[in-house]
Amino acid sequence: MRKVLSGRLLKFLGALLVLFLIAQILLSTFLKHRTEPRPLPVEEYRLISPLTYHYLINQPDVCRDRSPFLVLMVPVAPQEAAAREAVRRTWGSASSDTLTLFYAGLPDGGELSPIQEALEEESKLHADIIQMNFMDSYQNLTIKTMIMMKWLATHCPNSSYAMKVDADIFVNVFYLVEWLRSSPRLGFITGSVIRDGSPRRTPNSKWYLSEKLYPEDSFPPYVSGAGYVFSSDLAGRISWASRFVRMIPLEDVYVGLCLRVLGVQPVYSNSLPFLRNLFEIQKLEYDRCTFARRVIVNKFKPSELLQIWQDFSKNHASC
Ligand SMILES: *[C@@H]1O[C@H](CO)[C@@H](O)[C@H](O)[C@H]1NC(C)=O
Ligand SMILES: *[C@@H]1O[C@H](CO)[C@@H](O)[C@H](O)[C@H]1NC(C)=O
Repeated sequence: MRKVLSGRLLKFLGALLVLFLIAQILLSTFLKHRTEPRPLPVEEYRLISPLTYHYLINQPDVCRDRSPFLVLMVPVAPQEAAAREAVRRTWGSASSDTLTLFYAGLPDGGELSPIQEALEEESKLHADIIQMNFMDSYQNLTIKTMIMMKWLATHCPNSSYAMKVDADIFVNVFYLVEWLRSSPRLGFITGSVIRDGSPRRTPNSKWYLSEKLYPEDSFPPYVSGAGYVFSSDLAGRISWASRFVRMIPLEDVYVGLCLRVLGVQPVYSNSLPFLRNLFEIQKLEYDRCTFARRVIVNKFKPSELLQIWQDFSKNHASC
């Protein structure tokens, strides 16, 4: 009697185990299916796809005869000539390992604007401007960033690293190049990593995101848009991932969403021994030896940048 019972019990437990395993397999395929990214509807992808726009100004051959170690990609509005000039005279030209390029959209008034004419003249002089025919606006920075990614993957794939950096940033290219050279990496993106970001739901915020546009309650980890550095292989991959990510007007969060599709984690960068953030997103008073141990410092007017650089470029090695 006991034997029969324990035999049945064993069968029962065996069947339970099999059911449990089947349920697990079903659940995991269901979950996988759920999190597998789905391509955007064609109309939605059109807005963000670089193929929608065409070049008004391009520099397709800047990497033909050289493979820059680091491409500095600077998004800038068409009318911000003074900001471009300050970058050219400071960190934009400080190292033979770097190539600096400016990315713009259309000015208000479009191609007939006098700003457009001035931009074309400036481009003839410096051959460092790339422009596509989308409206240049804060909201459209996401489009611009995807254009930058696509441009790099197409026209400068042999560069090792790229940096997306705003024109009002101090960039310590000396430190940055040396630091990147010390450990070559692929699938790498670093900057000031934000891990606990979430959408602002108050409509009058500069960073407002409606629940319709972005239903999730939080953002995946992303690097602050002021300045971030990545290995150039990521440019094409991020560009590819954007087929799956709906356009939102927050450029840096958008890149974070593309990284999530790719399964790439952005890396926070500290300097030893005090674990200071190398990508300083607050504004700091200029101090040569403080700045010598940062990759970027935020928020400088063109005139301030020019002034700081006079001292920094000459004396940073003394720190
Ligand atoms: C890039 O590198 C590959 C392999 O090293 C080489 O074949 C190709 O010519 C290079 N392209 C450019 C544009 O330098
Ligand atoms: C963004 O660019 C597209 C294409 O030029 C344009 O239709 C749209 O109005 C722009 N959006 C904003 C908010 O500037």
